[in-house]
Amino acid sequence: MEKFNRKIPYNNLPLLPPKAEIETKSILRKTISAGRALAQLNGTLLNLPNPTLFLDTIYLQEAKASSEVENIITTKDELYKSLVADRKVDNSATKEVLSYKEALWLGLEQLKTKPFITTNLCVKIVQCIKQNNASIRNTPGTTLSNAQGEVIYTPPTGEAIIREKLANLEKFINEDVTIDPLIKMAILHYQFEAIHLFSDGNGRTGRILLLLYLKLSGLLDTPAIYLSEYMIKNKLEYYSRLRAVTENNEWEDYILYMLDMIEETSNKGLKRLNKITSAMDETASEIKRKLPKVYSKDLIEILFRLPYTKRQHLIDENIGNLKTVGNYLIELEKYGFLKSEKVGKEKLYLNQKLLEILENKE
Ligand SMILES: Nc1ncnc2c1ncn2[C@@H]1O[C@H](COP(=O)(O)OP(=O)(O)O)[C@@H](O)[C@H]1O
Ligand SMILES: [Mg+2]
Repeated sequence: MEKFNRKIPYNNLPLLPPKAEIETKSILRKTISAGRALAQLNGTLLNLPNPTLFLDTIYLQEAKASSEVENIITTKDELYKSLVADRKVDNSATKEVLSYKEALWLGLEQLKTKPFITTNLCVKIVQCIKQNNASIRNTPGTTLSNAQGEVIYTPPTGEAIIREKLANLEKFINEDVTIDPLIKMAILHYQFEAIHLFSDGNGRTGRILLLLYLKLSGLLDTPAIYLSEYMIKNKLEYYSRLRAVTENNEWEDYILYMLDMIEETSNKGLKRLNKITSAMDETASEIKRKLPKVYSKDLIEILFRLPYTKRQHLIDENIGNLKTVGNYLIELEKYGFLKSEKVGKEKLYLNQKLLEILENKE
């Protein structure tokens, strides 16, 4: 391998598959445990009465954390409120996180008609995240720096070279059937980041691809997994593992890192899911007992879809007319199930129980 210089465009980035021993004993062992955790999460998600129920919340969390990896910071409370309230969002970080969530949905939607990961899809995703016309880099000058401002990596330059690497990556993703999908997921993520096809948004697009790939490969039917939770916690390691692949062809530790991410976030996701469903059952039986006229299964689902709700959400789900749902919300607040909060001219209702579970990092 040619000597790598972090300040010179890495046009020699090797094509896939990697020239290294990939199926080592520790990788295979970790693939099994990560795969098992993921399968459990998948089963639990499939058994939910409504598998899409928590998607908005999970995707919002993922969007927030994935953006935070890139130092785009907003608070959960601000995000949830911005999503539910009618007022215009004017905080740029919040806007970007909400766009990220839209991009994730867009990606999943696209897979329904075109079940492949393509460069085109990545362009659509990044455009949605950035809300601009971003496309493949065609001007030189993109570099990656560390927190101290030193250049640590310079991706390949020249559209032809970038396209050649992308064609190879696409082929690897969609045609290689010899490598276990979880290991493949780790490999394709490295390559995507190393090609760094955009001038910005590569980290976030790359992390959306992880979820899309889990869906595509049949590992997670509803890709409701909060992967970036792990990356936030182990961010420096994420960066150093990526670097070690480039500089020393050290694939093993990088792949183990990615597999550990799958295992840990599957386990945590499973626990959180169980907590939310128990809280939901508890709330349902209490409302049934204390406010039998207000209770309905649909109402409970609305209260647990996002931490905040409002009258319009109840109307949209045919719970009742404006007057009826207004009264329901007042009753629910009186009995301590919700807490109202004024945001602009609107009244939002917070489900504190749900918010606490979501905020609990453990
Ligand atoms: N040494 C490296 N080699 C390749 N990719 C890297 C390296 N260090 C970081 N990255 C990736 O680059 C991403 C940041 O790129 P950027 O285009 O700014 O993404 P975003 O706008 O989503 O922040 C990181 O999240 C990571 O995925
Ligand atoms: Mg960036």
